[in-house]
Amino acid sequence: MHHFSYKEDDLYCEDVEVKKISDEVGTPFFLYSHATLIRHFEAFDHAFAEVPHIVSYSVKANSNLAVLRLFSQLGGGADIVSGGELFRAIKAGVDPGKIVYSGVGKREDEMEYALKEDILMFNVESHQELERLNCVAGKMGKKARVALRVNPDVDPKTHPYISTGLKQNKFGIPVREALNEYHFAASLENIQIVGVDCHIGSQLTQVQPFIDALKKVKALILELREEGIDIKYLDLGGGLGITYDEEAPPHPTEYGKAIIEEAKELDLTLVFEPGRVIVGNAGILVSKVLYTKRGEEKNFIIADAAMNDLARPSLYGSYQKVVPVRKNKEPMIVSDVVGPICESGDFLAKDRELPPFKQGDLLAVMSAGAYGFTMSSNYNSRVRAAEVMVKGDSFEVIRDRETFKDLVNGERIPDFL
Ligand code: LLP
Repeated sequence: MHHFSYKEDDLYCEDVEVKKISDEVGTPFFLYSHATLIRHFEAFDHAFAEVPHIVSYSVKANSNLAVLRLFSQLGGGADIVSGGELFRAIKAGVDPGKIVYSGVGKREDEMEYALKEDILMFNVESHQELERLNCVAGKMGKKARVALRVNPDVDPKTHPYISTGLKQNKFGIPVREALNEYHFAASLENIQIVGVDCHIGSQLTQVQPFIDALKKVKALILELREEGIDIKYLDLGGGLGITYDEEAPPHPTEYGKAIIEEAKELDLTLVFEPGRVIVGNAGILVSKVLYTKRGEEKNFIIADAAMNDLARPSLYGSYQKVVPVRKNKEPMIVSDVVGPICESGDFLAKDRELPPFKQGDLLAVMSAGAYGFTMSSNYNSRVRAAEVMVKGDSFEVIRDRETFKDLVNGERIPDFL
């Protein structure tokens, strides 16, 4: 459940009228509900209340400092995939003892930074990464805590671009090779094995693939223990899906129950890296209609938000619900919602039954809290949108809209020109 709803005909975020924010901040902007963020974080966290666990929120889904601060206040950690995400997490006050570092391509300077901050563990994805991490930690006189990310070869039944646990994917170490790799890790002087990690994909709408992966990882943990390699943490990644349209993903409680049932005999601390399930439906993208026009075949609503603001529809053909900020009672018409970018792939919605929007009307793209702003770009030299957080009856801009000056920041025209 989220806190975006209509009072009479007007869309509200908690107790603030969305139009009021638009009047003050301009468009487009991402809008997040504080109450929804808390509710979704707690729903996930409470699902594992009966077992030792850490919710290391996946920063890539929404990395605004205010969002990160909120989750750290609720006891959350962070799943990071770059030095930049570590910088954000530390700046927001996340406890480094709850930070896990995933990703297939960690650089040496990023490893050094994470070792300096003394993060909980590196989720190592290859043999060469282990060697390099051992080397970097040695130079710093430290021991790096690691989990190996295991690729269990399980089909998450989601979009191919966001499947990560199949053998044709670049992620992790094949589960069959994991035992050998653990032995290698155990032989390295500056590596301390603490865990096993596995993340099979994103926007999963069934529990079964998670359990299939867990079964494979569990067998590995039991084997490791038999061979004297102790495992304290089992990181099961993120991936739980949300409702964009008519998907019916399991509630975190159902997911939690199934996982606890399967993992309880292992007696270790579970780590999770949820992103979308916490922030996805806690945010919307608000945009103004610039023009409407009727093509030979289609009706177009030209909005001031585009694929550079919300890439998901263009990139994955994803469905994102579009609603009016002020409802009217006129009959719906089938339209495409498009942006100003010079590409036919620039759309937010296609062939939708929508109210007949007019110039100047506001629309809201729902479920834009995850992989919205974080995937936005400056393509077509468009400034990136503002981000706003509502709490009760008040709101704060948590990221200013960029300016033209920001667009050229760091660029230089050399003397020879
Ligand atoms: N952990 C790891 C190692 C990940 O790669 C991801 C997401 C997560 C956790 C969080 O997954 P979540 O709980 O949010 O499903 N841009 C795509 C999604 C890419 C997901 C990448 N990895 C989209 O907009 O659908």
